[in-house]
Amino acid sequence: MNSSDIFILAIESSCDDTAAAILHNRKALSNIVATQQIHQVYGGVVPELASRAHQQNIVPLVHRALDVANIDKKQLSAIAFTRGPGLLGSLLVGTSFAKSLSMGLEIPLIEVNHMEAHILSHFLETEGSTVPVFPFLAMTISGGHTQIVLVRGYFEMEVLGETLDDAVGEAFDKSAKLLGLPYPGGPLIDVHAQQGDPDRFAFPIPKVGGLDFSFSGLKTSILYFLQRETAADPEFVEREKNDICASIQKTIVEILMRKLKKAVLETGIDRVALAGGVAANSGIRKALQKAESDWGWTAHIPPFEYCTDNAAMIGIAGYLKYLDGRFTDLGTPATARYTIGS
Ligand code: KG4
Ligand code: ZN
Repeated sequence: MNSSDIFILAIESSCDDTAAAILHNRKALSNIVATQQIHQVYGGVVPELASRAHQQNIVPLVHRALDVANIDKKQLSAIAFTRGPGLLGSLLVGTSFAKSLSMGLEIPLIEVNHMEAHILSHFLETEGSTVPVFPFLAMTISGGHTQIVLVRGYFEMEVLGETLDDAVGEAFDKSAKLLGLPYPGGPLIDVHAQQGDPDRFAFPIPKVGGLDFSFSGLKTSILYFLQRETAADPEFVEREKNDICASIQKTIVEILMRKLKKAVLETGIDRVALAGGVAANSGIRKALQKAESDWGWTAHIPPFEYCTDNAAMIGIAGYLKYLDGRFTDLGTPATARYTIGS
């Protein structure tokens, strides 16, 4: 081991996934996620149950991350944790744990913005991928956020546009709920969509100014559409599920791609990176690949395991901050509303 060997323990607990990872410099040696199943029966995340599950998960998860990485906690250089944004009760579990362990081990503490971390996941060392060149545009698409971000540097990010109501992941999940699919329904819509006809049904594209998004109107139009069709034919959803999902997915991808294209035209930057759970969606991934071949964009799409909530992304953000000497004192609070660039 020499001074260039940095080992970071990263902890993520902002929503309903408890996650821990060990990084050796830019490479994740382990990346463990415990997804909380308890919320499925409620059709959405129940904050009180989420924080309780984080408390149960966090200690065994950190042990497992150390075991898989084959690292002793005495080798750690620093601990990175998600400060926000997210559910306060959930954030507090990771934040308190990280603070206690950093005191116990007498190593530095590094706070990380969850949304910045989604973007910085592109700088993890992974096989076959190239890191984005600054400046680039990042589209963060998750269950909590939908933003287009101008990324000038690791710690220099500016939000150019964002959703005015629901996040895109919520649009997927709420549509799925209307179709009777379990939570989180986004990945299931994707599975059905891949077997359906995207041109079968048409849903409206909202008219929103600038680079902002809106998804609440889509949910309402799907609700009315389903009410109308099932009144005439109670079997409609069961029989047409694939085509309905394909049509919904096509509309959501179209909404995202129109704004992204506008952002590319306005900024003159055609290097585009996807981040967040919805970046796992096959429709948006294909649309970006097509933009590369049709319009000459350079697209960066993270591997699946780094798209949805994970701790490796907190680790890479922590590592980059470590190199820059951006440490955190023990008084730093968990912050439910923590905007990019603040
Ligand atoms: O980033 P993430 O794991 O958690 C948040 O920070 O929100 O994103 C979770 C969201 C959920 O809404 C989930 O339904 C959606 O990402 N999602 C997908 C897919 N995989 C995950 N949505 C559509 N297609 C997918 N393949
Ligand atoms: Zn996330």
